[in-house]
Amino acid sequence: DSDNAQYLNTIELDSSTSLLPVIAGVNVYPEYIADGALVVDDATGLVVDYGHCASMMSQYGNNSEHKNKALVQIYNCKHNLIMPGFIDTHVHYPQIDMIAAFGEQLLDWLNNYTFVTEANFGNPKIAHDTAQFFLNQLLANGTTSALVFSTSHPQSVEAFFSESIRLNTRMITGNVLMDQNAPENLCVPTEQGIRDTQNIIDKWHERGRQHVAITPRFAITSTPKQLQMTGELYRSYDSVYLQTHLAENLDEVAFVRELYPNHKGYLDVYHDMGLLGRRTTLAHGIYLETPEYEVLRDTGTQIAHCPTSNLFLGSGLFDLSKTLSYTGVSIATDVGAGTSLSMLTTLSEAYKVQQLQKKSLSAHQGLYQITLGNAQSLLLDDKIGNFMPNKEADFVVINMDGTELLERRMTQTKSLEEQLFVLMMLGDDRVIEQTVIAGVSRYKRSTVL
Ligand code: GUN
Ligand code: ZN
Repeated sequence: DSDNAQYLNTIELDSSTSLLPVIAGVNVYPEYIADGALVVDDATGLVVDYGHCASMMSQYGNNSEHKNKALVQIYNCKHNLIMPGFIDTHVHYPQIDMIAAFGEQLLDWLNNYTFVTEANFGNPKIAHDTAQFFLNQLLANGTTSALVFSTSHPQSVEAFFSESIRLNTRMITGNVLMDQNAPENLCVPTEQGIRDTQNIIDKWHERGRQHVAITPRFAITSTPKQLQMTGELYRSYDSVYLQTHLAENLDEVAFVRELYPNHKGYLDVYHDMGLLGRRTTLAHGIYLETPEYEVLRDTGTQIAHCPTSNLFLGSGLFDLSKTLSYTGVSIATDVGAGTSLSMLTTLSEAYKVQQLQKKSLSAHQGLYQITLGNAQSLLLDDKIGNFMPNKEADFVVINMDGTELLERRMTQTKSLEEQLFVLMMLGDDRVIEQTVIAGVSRYKRSTVL
């Protein structure tokens, strides 16, 4: 593919002059290989192997006995760090147009800014332009897969999947189900919303690298009837996802109690309606009682922690260690309540949220989480998340000296752990040199392809 060849340091290497690290997140501790290289099959976009550069060269390089491979690319990006692509498990693509809206907490923020912007996405041109812009921003931030909210308009989903399939990114989304407590131009009649989801599943689910998530916005904006039908739909498939929001804000929790006085609490509404399970990701989960954590555990339901959003909306402090002791947690941006699409920036805020609770988050744990950890939470770790052979070659090339400050600070570090922590605290889109999707370069810094 001549498009990407210019970005590849294809072999010809003098190992004495190069430092070629690769991180392959195996288990909780990332595996670090100084002088590493990643070998990718050009025809399939799958990982062939990774390891020390010299060894990869002798096995797969031009002069090796396996040199059949006009097909094999060896990525050895000098002086840079190659990592698996980042995964964002909760983000709203239409909200990129109202990110950083001033001064409100959740319910007012939704009514005054969010719903106003989302109403535009019945227009296919706006939806396409925004989906394209958003996906390019993800790539510029090193994010290669995401679990995404569109809007209640099927056109918004169509626009997103059309663009994602063109880029060949592995993405999950669905039309947002809302049939009450929201402006009329966003509400879709109960059965119509469910039919829209069904049509989207028929057209897009597991087409190429795309997956569908049934997406009721949250308990407030769906009638009990719609939540019931949502649960039935979810249980009629075994590979479709479900995403919604849970216990983000105290006023929200109180409103749900008002709407469902006969349920044990917020999570019980979803449980009763059949929305919980191993393919369910609930964003936030800040205000939960111990029996609710037990329901998460018993159903396998996953929680997406969104630190920049929780701080921006003043929602509260997420209890990471308690939640992790019951179920799987992923880390996500939640743009546009979240204030950055960068998973590195998100980790740095996650660290601060833990600090405020006298807890911590190491660089190893953080970098594991945004790669293999998030892939595991989404049950995609057989396909993405690290560099095991036959996984899809989605990866980022990171310049550890991507800013003047980082360059200076890195000279003062004494260990890999320290370097990675500084990267996690100070890194953002400026350190992402290149983003590769299934072996094809889709982003190079300063150049959006
Ligand atoms: N709860 C229901 N909808 C939303 C949303 O769009 N953003 C956030 N942060 N919380 C929600
Ligand atoms: Zn959200």
